[in-house]
Amino acid sequence: MKRIFSGVQPTGNLHLGNYLGAIRNWVGLQESFDCIYCIVDLHAITQSQNPAHLREQTRSVTAAFIASGIDAERSIIFNQSAVPAHCELAWALACHTPLGWLNRMTQFKEKAGKDRESAVLGLYAYPVLMAADILLYKASHVPVGEDQKQHLELSRDIAGAFNRTYGVDYFPLPEPQILGVATRVMSLRDGERKMSKSDASDYSRINLTDDADTIALKIRKARTDPNPLPDTPTDCQERPEALNLLGIYAALADVKLADACERFSGAQFSAFKQTLADLAVSVLGPITAEMKRLAADPGYVDGVLRTGAERAAAIANRNLRDIKNIIGLLHPG
Ligand code: TRP
Repeated sequence: MKRIFSGVQPTGNLHLGNYLGAIRNWVGLQESFDCIYCIVDLHAITQSQNPAHLREQTRSVTAAFIASGIDAERSIIFNQSAVPAHCELAWALACHTPLGWLNRMTQFKEKAGKDRESAVLGLYAYPVLMAADILLYKASHVPVGEDQKQHLELSRDIAGAFNRTYGVDYFPLPEPQILGVATRVMSLRDGERKMSKSDASDYSRINLTDDADTIALKIRKARTDPNPLPDTPTDCQERPEALNLLGIYAALADVKLADACERFSGAQFSAFKQTLADLAVSVLGPITAEMKRLAADPGYVDGVLRTGAERAAAIANRNLRDIKNIIGLLHPG
């Protein structure tokens, strides 16, 4: 069976954009792949984190996975730091990664900002750790968003460099898993910015921890333009907020954008928002309720992570042993 690996950083509340853009697709992939979903806490600490908050977010993302329908028995859910082999492989891969490749990474440049000298080594090495995550399990497919494509490309390059160096065909080159209609969910306050966990305004996003009233309120307050709803997707071109809300509707209702436009063509936003809020609550309600239940039961969530880490480590340690043998690192005895 082909293997999927993907990861999410535990650095803030997951929101509707994460759900429609990633997690919902991950649920579907369980049908046709052997799936490993990782909460990448070691990537999170490449930027400063509050320890208590990091721990809490790790549990919360785990709960979001489970509540969204990722089946912890069928798939593997675990946090990265619980399987030390990720760091060991990252070191070995770092020794096969030219600096020139890392210097091209645009995310490092953005995150490091102007003061490059103060940027930490971990932030620079971030893409190598990501390559280790994927290659440790010899994953064949990796669902990632647009912003991670360059890192995935680098993982392929590193895998190729390793194979060539040792004259082996050990690592498969991981393919990006292109998801059906990519749902790009934008901020509810500004249709031209991505919905983001780092946006200062909580009204810009729907968190997976929001209750029904909050979801409805945020949709009611979402920015719109003064015109009635457009007839077709083409008419949305100069209307980012209309496009975003109709896109969210289409994704939640699982219909095409054109069908959503047709359904509401000429309607007032107030009426449309009411329908959208009802739909959002009906889809997200069961998820947020389950997350609430899981938040009250951290022992259960920790148990899922513990079992997941054991299963992940069984694969990881077997592969790491092979990799060490290829490199010539000795296992005495
Ligand atoms: N860098 C990814 C992100 O920020 C998270 C990530 C870490 C990841 N390791 C991964 C994604 C391996 C896919 C595969 O979104």
